[in-house]
Parts: sequence; C-alpha cells; structure tokens
Amino acid sequence: MIIARTAVELRAALDSKIGSIGFVPTMGALHIGHRTLIEKARESNDIVVVSIFVNPTQFLAGEDLSKYPRREEADFKICELSGVDILFYPEVNTMYGSDEVSVKAPDVRGYILEGAIRPGHFDGVLSVVIKLLNLVGATRAYFGKKDAQQLALITQMVENFFMNVEIVAVDTVRESDGLALSSRNVYLSHEDRIEALKLSASLKHSTHLVMQGVRESNEIIKVMLDILEPLNVEYVAIVNRRFEAIDEVIIGDTIVLVAARVGSTRLIDNVWM
Ligand code: PAF
Repeated sequence: MIIARTAVELRAALDSKIGSIGFVPTMGALHIGHRTLIEKARESNDIVVVSIFVNPTQFLAGEDLSKYPRREEADFKICELSGVDILFYPEVNTMYGSDEVSVKAPDVRGYILEGAIRPGHFDGVLSVVIKLLNLVGATRAYFGKKDAQQLALITQMVENFFMNVEIVAVDTVRESDGLALSSRNVYLSHEDRIEALKLSASLKHSTHLVMQGVRESNEIIKVMLDILEPLNVEYVAIVNRRFEAIDEVIIGDTIVLVAARVGSTRLIDNVWM
C-alpha cells in the first residue's frame, strides 16, 4: 500500500497504476462499515484509493472536531489488510488555502434536517468531496446510506457540475442488535448504547407498519416518536430520495430518517423503503 500525504505524492502514486479507480473517502476511525465500502470498491475496480481526512470545514463551532476519534496506526493497518492500493492522508494545508472559491450546498436540500441542525455542514462536506474526487480522479466513489442526506447532496453535486464519476450507495452496516455502525459510537457509555438502540428499533417498527399497509407519514412518525421516548429527538422525517417531505410512503422511493441525542452523542439512522 502506498501512503500519499500530499497532492504531488498522490499524483505519482496514481500515475504508477493503470485501470479503474474505486475511491472511499473517510474521516478515519475506520470500522466494519468502512471496510464494507472498501470491499465494494475492491469488487468493481482495478485500483482502490482510500482517503483519511478529518475535514475541519464540515464541523460547526463547538462541535467535536478536536475530539473526533483519530486512530492513525489502526486505520493504516485496516487499509493495508483490506487490500487498499493507495491511502491518501493529507494535512489541512494540502486540502485548503486562503480566500478560496467555495462550494455551497443547495439552499433547501442542504439546509433541512441535518442541514438545519448543522447549518453549513454540507457546504463543508461538498467542498472537501469535490476536491477529493478531483484529486483522485475516481471512476466510482462509495458512500454509506447511513449518511443519506450527504449521499443525496453529493449525487446532486456530481450531476449539477457534470462530474465524471459514479456515486455508489452502500447499505448501512449494523451490529447484531441493530445499532448502525458509526465512528461516534465510541463515545457511548454502556447505558447510552442501550438507549441508542431506540433509533434502530423505531425504524424497524416503521418498516413493520408499512408492511402492514400503513402509508401515512404522520401516523408512522407518531409511533416512532413514542418508541424514541425519552431521547432528545432532533427530527423524525419521511422523505423521498430527493429529500422532499412526503405525506405518504411510496415504496421504492422513501427514506425514513431519525436524529437524536443519546447522552452527549448525536446519532443519526435511517431506513430506505
Ligand atoms: O462521511 C464522511 O466520513 C465525511 O463526511 C466525508 C464524506 C469523508 C467528507 O469529509
């Protein structure tokens, strides 16, 4: 595995390889969810590139940027063992200069749900993702469905800017008890972790209701909120794949989303139906 720390090193590493490039951008603290993204990239591409970069522009003031888990040695090992060809591990000054051209998330889709709770977060995500996609020259880039709004906005950016890369959506990986894998799960205490299961339980119940024939969004949301008690729920929402709120579930074009605080940790989860 080649470790590239600068754009020049990355270019040299890419020049030494031939074929399609599968790219997995990450912020490190790699878990099985990331390994699944890497496996998917491995299956369909000649070269697999992973980036590890804790992107400061997607954290709001007061968020967990300085606390964000950093595990360089373990992450390098996981990449190596997963068959990654090139690991891009840049410093902030490689990725950002001063007085730059900026990318802005769309006014509506980028500022509802996650974007309403974390205004500007998606500007930062899109800014770094466009840079990474351009640097890597990926044929395909892999993103988890767990960050559904991020995935929708990246897909939209690629379309809006006519970028020549295929965005591949990968299913959420869960623990055996249903908890969606997240780098932030390390913050959960034993008690928090039990409480956190309410997120996946509420989503599972939404699927159950839909299977029983319930379609009305408000009815499903109400039952989910009951299950989520007494968590500090930030939102429960039912949207279509373009992130427009829908009154009724449309099978094949619906995402049910939940965001809640468990202790001091913010968790998000969703189910696609
Ligand atoms: O999902 C993430 O880990 C990050 O938002 C991403 C896509 C790597 C951009 O920093």
